[in-house]
Amino acid sequence: MFTPELIAKLEKSRLAAVLTIENPDNAIPVARALLDGGVSVIELAFRTPQAAEAIQRIRENVPEITIGAGTVLNPQQVKDAAAVGAAFGVAPGCNPRTLRAAQDCRLPFAPGVATPTDIEIALEHRCNVLKFFPAETSGGLAHLNNIATPFAHLGLRYFPLGGINAGNLAMYLQSPLVACVGGSWLAKPDVVQKHDWETIRRNAAEAMTIVRSIQPT
Ligand code: 3PG
Repeated sequence: MFTPELIAKLEKSRLAAVLTIENPDNAIPVARALLDGGVSVIELAFRTPQAAEAIQRIRENVPEITIGAGTVLNPQQVKDAAAVGAAFGVAPGCNPRTLRAAQDCRLPFAPGVATPTDIEIALEHRCNVLKFFPAETSGGLAHLNNIATPFAHLGLRYFPLGGINAGNLAMYLQSPLVACVGGSWLAKPDVVQKHDWETIRRNAAEAMTIVRSIQPT
């Protein structure tokens, strides 16, 4: 379960950067570039063997960032994420073994949901923040509104990812269902590998200008 304090951090940034890090030496400069641009939530994907170390370095050196572990696919990765102090875990899908491990480790966990069945599985494991994935190809905000309606009385919050960019993030953020959106476009792996921190800072700043222009509905 995400605590109210953790949800408040998502709501404050409203934007999360999905990162894949090959070289842990890149973790801190990327995090600082995102923070300079105004983005204070990172989902760092367990898609490289260096992910846990990168999370630890960001947690220890850039404390203004709320750092979560992404692409957490099994109980061992839940333990690894918890061991390095990830603030939360995220998965593309809704694997009950992974969700049980997150409960055991007390790691706030947002499983991926795209159907009402997925949401019911997440509820069984006391999840209250759900990654809506893949947001755009599942049907976008219209689909999220449909699948969320039967659960509206439960106060679930959603974290849409998958196909989000500067062109469509405002639409999602205008929905009261949505705590935060995220995407990999802010800091693509090739830009990270080139150490192009200025592009990452500018991507974040441009997206945050859009975020700040959104009027609450
Ligand atoms: C992911 O887990 O890969 C994220 O949802 C990012 O999706 P994107 O690359 O479409 O932003």
